[in-house]
Amino acid sequence: MRTQVAIIGGGPAGLLLSQLLNQKGVETVVLERQSRDYVLSRIRAGVLERGTVDLLQRAGASARMMKNGQPHCGCYLTHDQQMIRVDFAEACGAEVMVYGQTEVTRDLYAAQDGLGATHIHGVENVVLHDIETSKPYVTYDLDGAAHRLECDFIAGCDGFHGVSRKSIPQAVRKEYEKIYPFGWLGVLSETPPLHEELIYANHPRGFALASMRNPMLSRYYVQVPLSDRVEDWSDDAFWSELRARLPQDVAEGLVTGPSIEKSIAPLRSFVTEPMRHGALFLCGDAAHIVPPTGAKGLNLAASDVHYLSEGFIAHYDQSDSTGLEDYSQKALARVWQAMRFSWSVTTMMHHFPEHTAYDREMQRVELMQLASNPTAQRLFAENYVGLPY
Ligand code: APR
Ligand code: PHB
Repeated sequence: MRTQVAIIGGGPAGLLLSQLLNQKGVETVVLERQSRDYVLSRIRAGVLERGTVDLLQRAGASARMMKNGQPHCGCYLTHDQQMIRVDFAEACGAEVMVYGQTEVTRDLYAAQDGLGATHIHGVENVVLHDIETSKPYVTYDLDGAAHRLECDFIAGCDGFHGVSRKSIPQAVRKEYEKIYPFGWLGVLSETPPLHEELIYANHPRGFALASMRNPMLSRYYVQVPLSDRVEDWSDDAFWSELRARLPQDVAEGLVTGPSIEKSIAPLRSFVTEPMRHGALFLCGDAAHIVPPTGAKGLNLAASDVHYLSEGFIAHYDQSDSTGLEDYSQKALARVWQAMRFSWSVTTMMHHFPEHTAYDREMQRVELMQLASNPTAQRLFAENYVGLPY
C-alpha cells in the first residue's frame, strides 16, 4: 500500500492532521493500535484555546462544539478562602471553549468518515523505516499478517509512549524532563458543576480543580501523593477532600454523586528536540508533555498540527517546503511558551513536599499579584486563552 503522509496514531493530533490534509487533497493513512471505541473511551481535559476552536471550524468538525460547548471568559484561582477571578475578556479580549477532548475526538472521527479517510485500527509492531531517505516506509502487523506502507512522509502522532520519537536516533535527540512529586486524582460525576467557571484551588492540603463537561457532567481533581492508588480513594473520601480544599462558602454548593470515572495521572513536563528528523515529523504528545494545570496538552497538539499541515499542503500544492523545513523550530517556539506557563501555574498552585514557609509565601504573593495587578492578569489570561500561532 502507498500514501503521501503516513500518520502513526489516531488520537486528536493524528485525526486533526489527517482531516486538514485530506480536505486539501493530501492522501493519508492513519495507523492506530487501539480500536475506535477505546480511543473514544479516554477521559482527557476539556479547555480549548481560541486557536484550537478555529482549527476545528476549518476542519469541518465544530458543529457539535458550537452547539454544546461552553464559552468561558474567565476562571477563578483560590488561595485558602480567597477567590481571585481572572477576566480573560477584560484582560485580553478573548475566551476559551469548554468542550471535552472525547467529544473533539468523536467530531474528528465523524469528519474523517465524511471524507472516507483511511484509518487502520488494531495495528501492532509498527516500525518506521528509512526515515533518513526520500523513500521512508512503515511496517506493521494486522490480524497476524505483515503489512508495508510506502509513503513520502511520516507524522508521529502516537503520543508519549509511541514508537515515533524513539525512531529518531538517540544521538540526535535532546530531551528535557521535569517530574512533579504528586499526581492528580480525577473524578467524573453526573452532577451539576460547582460553579459556572473553572476554579483552581491552592490550599495547604493540596491543589484542587473544579471543572465541567456540560450542565450535568462535572470534572474534579485533587492533588495526591505519587504513592496513592485509585483504590485508596472512595467517592466519599474524594468529595470530603475536595470540599476541604475549596473556600468554605463555595464548597457549600458542591453537589456530590457517584463517580462514573476515577483515575490518577502523574504530572510531568517533557520536550524532545528536534520535532523533525528526515521524513519523520513529531506532533502532539509524541514530542511534548505538559502538566494539565494549564490545560495545554490538546491545544499544543492543535498548534503543532496547524504548522505541520500548512507545511505539507504548501509542499504538495506549490512545491514549497519551507513550512516543513521550519516546522520543528516554529512548533518548539510555541511549545516552550506553553511549557513555561504550565510549569508556572503548577508551581504556584500545588503543595510541594519540599517547600519551605518562604516558598509558600512566594505562592501567596504571586496569587495576590494576580488578584491586584492588571499586567499580571493579562499575562495569565493571554497564556491561558492561547498565544497566537
Ligand atoms: N502504533 C499506533 N498507534 C499508537 C502507537 C503505536 N505504536 N502508540 C500509541 N498509539 C496511539 C494511541 O493509542 C493514541 O490513540 O497514538 C494515539 C496518541 O494519542 P494521544 O496520546 O491522545 O496524543 P495526541 O494525539 O498527541 O493528543 C494529545 O491527547 O491524551 C491527550 O493529554 C493528551 O491532551 C493531550 C492530547
Ligand atoms: C478538565 O476539565 O479536565 C480540565 C480543565 C482545566 C485544566 C485541566 C483539566 O487545567
